[in-house]
Amino acid sequence: MSFCQVVYNGCMTHILGISGSLRRGSLNTALLRNLAELSDEEVSMEITTLHGIPLYDGDLEDESGIPQEVKNLGERIKAADGVVIASPEYNNSIPGVLKNAVDWLSRLEEDVFAGKSFALVGASPGGFGTILAQNAWLPVFRTLEVHFWAEGRLLVSKAAGLFDVKTGRLTDEKTRQKLEEFIQGFAKFAADGEC
Ligand code: FNR
Repeated sequence: MSFCQVVYNGCMTHILGISGSLRRGSLNTALLRNLAELSDEEVSMEITTLHGIPLYDGDLEDESGIPQEVKNLGERIKAADGVVIASPEYNNSIPGVLKNAVDWLSRLEEDVFAGKSFALVGASPGGFGTILAQNAWLPVFRTLEVHFWAEGRLLVSKAAGLFDVKTGRLTDEKTRQKLEEFIQGFAKFAADGEC
């Protein structure tokens, strides 16, 4: 988990980054880690993955309620001013691991989505940087009534060559600048109304 802290007009803006990949060497988790490291001393960002969240099953829900891992994630979303979703692209769409978590979260008694600031990022080894996965999220976000930051678009293509394999750190200066602009822009968007 990475942690940095930011203050806008005397307010601290806290961002939660959720990676949609469970892979240890995930490009999308690496992207979030780099975003967190680039946020300046005015923004705080923590990162989580979705390990431990079971497949959505209505019988499991009826018998045991919402899993504790989902409740914990819901609490972290509630506590954040904004959420950055790092979504891999699978078969030109949303990865099941991430959609499954969102489906569980939408079953919580308290709505953690409506009005919450959300942004999307994504990294892929190919040339399109998860553009189709990002588009596929839009109807889901609309249904959940999130406060979506449409201005900020971060598509990292050919990503396998942009990170140091051992440390996961970005080695490409142009991409680093894009990340910096993205996290600062989203932090301002997420802080609006509260500060
Ligand atoms: C992929 N990948 C992929 N990439 C892409 O740009 N468009 C796509 O439609 C797909 N489809 C796809 C399906 C499945 C089942 C897998 C496993 C992979 C490649 C994908 O972008 C690549 O594996 C990324 O590295 C996945 O993200 P993480 O795990 O590195 O964060």
